[in-house]
Amino acid sequence: MSIHIEAAPGAIAEGILLPGDPLRAQFIAENLLEDATLFNRVRGMSGYTGTWKGKRVSVMGTGMGQPSLSIYVNELLREYGVKRLIRVGTCGSFREELPVRGIVLAMSACTDSGANRQRFRGMDYAPSASWSLLSKAAAAAAARGERFLVGPVLSSDQFYNEDGDAWKLWARFGVLAVEMESAELYTLAAKYGAEALAILTASDSLVSGELTSAAERQTGFRKMAELALDTIIAD
Ligand code: HPA
Repeated sequence: MSIHIEAAPGAIAEGILLPGDPLRAQFIAENLLEDATLFNRVRGMSGYTGTWKGKRVSVMGTGMGQPSLSIYVNELLREYGVKRLIRVGTCGSFREELPVRGIVLAMSACTDSGANRQRFRGMDYAPSASWSLLSKAAAAAAARGERFLVGPVLSSDQFYNEDGDAWKLWARFGVLAVEMESAELYTLAAKYGAEALAILTASDSLVSGELTSAAERQTGFRKMAELALDTIIAD
């Protein structure tokens, strides 16, 4: 039991999938995992543990944005001994080579957040994915015949930006897409000697203005969750 998670000791697996939306965690538990049991209901942030291909896996929502994710991931790492964390989420594409519905394996995460500026006393840390999880995800995606891009993303603190063109600077420097959580996930995993990766599907494109429908997001989410599950159980 931690401040925001009511799970009993041992109720959370060493490998956990982290969607932003707790209803997506419920979707994974009900449609993909076997024998899933609920371990958290505090603040409606559903968390479940079950099995995938016979191996124990957990899934839990993080909420939107780095402060919310930070609370849950801190507690998962400090109090529950989680070792492998894979964020499964959506992103907005910054680059033509990433079409909507495309999958990104986020190798690193830039950020406009002040959190790491505070943590590192004004210096710039480079939040990076676990190479082990990244290479396993690339192999699992190839085995499933799924195309993907590997590269940097931006973890922004603002969904509604005052400057509508601000994204173009990041795009010019090769950043593939924007989302709101991965930089904090990677930083915390590094601090606690755990492995982390974000697998993202482009739900919209800032380049073309295209948006996916809710039905497409659901189908895309299922594929991405299966890829993340294959990755988290890979030896
Ligand atoms: N901005 C931030 N996060 C996102 C976006 C976006 O455009 N699309 C999906 N997640």
